[in-house]
Amino acid sequence: MAIRLGDEAPDFSAQTTEGQINFHQWIGDHWAVLFSHPADYTPVCTTELGAVAKLKPEFDQRGVKVVGLSVDAVDSHLGWIRDINETQQTTVNFPIIADPERRIAQLYDMIHPNALNNMTVRSVFVIGPDKRVKLTLTYPASTGRNFDELLRVIDSLQLTAKFSVATPANWREGDDCIISPSVSDADAAQRFPKGFQRLKPYLRVTPQPDR
Ligand code: BEZ
Repeated sequence: MAIRLGDEAPDFSAQTTEGQINFHQWIGDHWAVLFSHPADYTPVCTTELGAVAKLKPEFDQRGVKVVGLSVDAVDSHLGWIRDINETQQTTVNFPIIADPERRIAQLYDMIHPNALNNMTVRSVFVIGPDKRVKLTLTYPASTGRNFDELLRVIDSLQLTAKFSVATPANWREGDDCIISPSVSDADAAQRFPKGFQRLKPYLRVTPQPDR
């Protein structure tokens, strides 16, 4: 069944390149990103895993754990990681789940047979410390993901989880934010001491509250 925003992320146990994990336990009090790959030894995935390894300090800084998934076994993953490290000039520094029976792929609806037969598409799930799904993305096999965009989205998710704001189109960390429509003007004056601009009753802009 499709997983929707706000659903509890299905829990599972699995073998990974860094040992056995229980997913919810592994997340602990962190945020998490679970992202799938069609198969081992495929070119676009090789670049994606290299890109995430290089961005790992950025995920760490945000308290986000990352885990990949590919529908092959651990031995295959380990051989592939050697190629990723060599060709992408990095060291894969996060676990990759082995899912040869497609158990987790089915649980997370990562196999879209009309797009790709028996392999996973490029799914992304961002999961909060409450184990609820905060964001989903689905890309086809032929298009590599933009992991800078994923970090940008995580910045917004974490900010909007803390404050009654939303982030406008193309927002980046440090830009002005939009005050949630559920907050009255009187409340907004209290909650946002830096002030706000009332462009329309429904469009009120305030500096990012935690900066
Ligand atoms: C790739 O990662 O390059 C890929 C995987 C499956 C189908 C097409 C491309």
